[in-house]
Amino acid sequence: MKKTISVAPMMKRTDRHFHYLVRLLSQNTYFYTEMIHANAILRGDKSKLLNFDISDQRLVVQIGGSVPDHLSEAAKIIEDNGFKEINLNVGCPSKKVKAGNFGVFLMKDIDLLEECITSINSKISIPLSIKCRTGVDDYEGEDFLNNFVQRITRLNVNKIIIHARKAISGLDTKRNRSIPPLNYDLVCNIKNYYEDQEIIINGGFDDMEKILDIDSKVDGVMIGRKIYSNPLFLHEIEQKYFFNSTKNKLIEVMTKFMEYILQLQSNKDANRAINHLMALLKCIPFQKSHREALMTSLRDKKIDSSEVFRNLEKIPALYQ
Ligand SMILES: Cc1cc2nc3c(=O)[nH]c(=O)nc-3n(C[C@H](O)[C@H](O)[C@H](O)COP(=O)(O)O)c2cc1C
Repeated sequence: MKKTISVAPMMKRTDRHFHYLVRLLSQNTYFYTEMIHANAILRGDKSKLLNFDISDQRLVVQIGGSVPDHLSEAAKIIEDNGFKEINLNVGCPSKKVKAGNFGVFLMKDIDLLEECITSINSKISIPLSIKCRTGVDDYEGEDFLNNFVQRITRLNVNKIIIHARKAISGLDTKRNRSIPPLNYDLVCNIKNYYEDQEIIINGGFDDMEKILDIDSKVDGVMIGRKIYSNPLFLHEIEQKYFFNSTKNKLIEVMTKFMEYILQLQSNKDANRAINHLMALLKCIPFQKSHREALMTSLRDKKIDSSEVFRNLEKIPALYQ
């Protein structure tokens, strides 16, 4: 089984603009879109929601919901729009998600989750994966997770991505990403029982050492916050994990991404993309005043790009 590294789905972060940036920085990582609710696909503006570059074979659309027919209809639309893989969210613990009884709450109702998966698989021929937690509330422990994985494994799910901490209802989503502590051993033990089932671990991977340490025990690692807060980590992954020495110089990445921002039509899109650029700029030694001037000109689309690029040329870090 080929091991994978992937960018985790993150609401308001892993949108099509971040996807563009990630592809400038990395040739080998998978990319999961932010969660899109099945109803949004059925009733909303599909062309906008699914406006990603589908030529990327490692792009996965994450959907959420718990009505089997809605999920399968939405999944069919995604497949018909040319996407190559779908992921079902079985890990989100937010209040809204609890009210809709989907996300991680499907771990409490495995019969319903099975119905959802079966229904989706009956309508699509592309692979379906799920992203879950190790448990939720008192549905926890190795026996619980083992039984969960055993049932899912029978259903033709190509990957199970496990965020290595259980979710606690009532805690807000942010705290649910740091409490309780991560339990990598639990996920690795489960992987031992299911040699043929692809199991990806997620949660807290913020340096190369941790990734390499766990590499032989699972089928891949999914990374969220570290990549968003430091997109240059993708370069490190290319070099030290995939042994890929062909990387775009930062000056090319910045230039291409700024050109991309400037051609965006809506301010909302441009602002989102500028936030991603900010994340990138924070990891580069860059004068604050210059950064602010750059942001203002990008926002106002009043950029005199030749001047900005001339200034960028003076920053040695961009030539690495
Ligand atoms: C801002 C933000 C938004 C997130 N949105 C989603 C989402 O839409 N779907 C999902 O499955 N997980 C979501 N997550 C959880 C991440 O995918 C990941 O499981 C979590 O951050 C732990 O991984 P990390 O420690 O590498 O960040 C989100 C996390 C963050 C920080």
